[in-house]
Amino acid sequence: MKKKILTGDRPTGKLHIGHYIGSLKNRVALQNTGNYDTFIMIADQQALTDNARDPEKIRRSLVEVALDYLAVGIDPAKSTIFVQSQIPALTELTSYYLNLVTVSRLERNPTVKTEIQQKHFEHSIPAGFFIYPVSQAADITAFKAQLVPVGDDQEPMIEQTREIVRSFNSIYGKKILVEPQGVFPPKGQGRLPGLDGNAKMSKSLGNAIYLSDNADTLKKKVMSMYTDPNHIHVEDPGKVEGNTVFTYLDIFDPDQQKVANLKEQYRAGGLGDVKIKRYLNDVLEAQLRPIRVRRERFAEDIPTVYAILKEGSKRANEVARQTLREVRAAIGVNYFS
Ligand code: TRP
Repeated sequence: MKKKILTGDRPTGKLHIGHYIGSLKNRVALQNTGNYDTFIMIADQQALTDNARDPEKIRRSLVEVALDYLAVGIDPAKSTIFVQSQIPALTELTSYYLNLVTVSRLERNPTVKTEIQQKHFEHSIPAGFFIYPVSQAADITAFKAQLVPVGDDQEPMIEQTREIVRSFNSIYGKKILVEPQGVFPPKGQGRLPGLDGNAKMSKSLGNAIYLSDNADTLKKKVMSMYTDPNHIHVEDPGKVEGNTVFTYLDIFDPDQQKVANLKEQYRAGGLGDVKIKRYLNDVLEAQLRPIRVRRERFAEDIPTVYAILKEGSKRANEVARQTLREVRAAIGVNYFS
């Protein structure tokens, strides 16, 4: 039997090139090996845990994320793309797993901790948000996923899932659930800095390049990027470390020999920011154009996009329901069967 993969994203906006480098690219590569049964979930229920008052945003973003998936090459013929809220078994699994997790364990999850600060939730954490790592364990285990390709920030969720799997299997005496492993981006590519040099590209910081940005927007954004603030005249020697343009070239340019030469020139002085940004723009445009073109094509036929999600959700439902049946039987709440 093929190994199973499960992963997903919260639909709170369009996906950007940080998502692409951090996870999407990995998923497409894994999908295309043909060695895995891949499930990709749009986590709308998880998105609602901190957006309960703005459901319209989630609804809108659902189709944007689906378009981003299709655009980067996630192929519904090879991967099952589905919608979390359409799989009721996930919620039921969550309720059983919640009994295996303590509040203090949830409080220790470093990603949730950071998010609580960022969202100013210190004194008003929505309970659903607080427990979302447990629902994530349900997402992963429902599909008996061995591999979970995600960004580095999701590592604590995988760890918490592994703990839940171990306690479930040890308490209920059966090897029902499968312990997953995270698949993380190559070292140094886990986190793409924002256009402004901020450590993280993110929608809320307004420093992102979206997969859906057109050529003009891409160019404007690249030309506005943070470089070396002390590199004022073309002849000045410039700094490459912490210079976002070079960080992007390290990650995106297939011609690393050329990048090494440009760095040398920049350090010595004589290579201007405008020139190097124009070059980066060419590199990014070459990679983003095919994605954009595919996205536009799918965007012309939204009913087909929804049909793909519906079909995927149907298949995902069958798989998750089977796991739920096994879980219920293991716990012994299958009185009538
Ligand atoms: N938490 C993930 C994110 O922020 C989304 C997600 C929900 C997920 N359930 C998952 C990722 C299960 C991997 C596995 O994008």
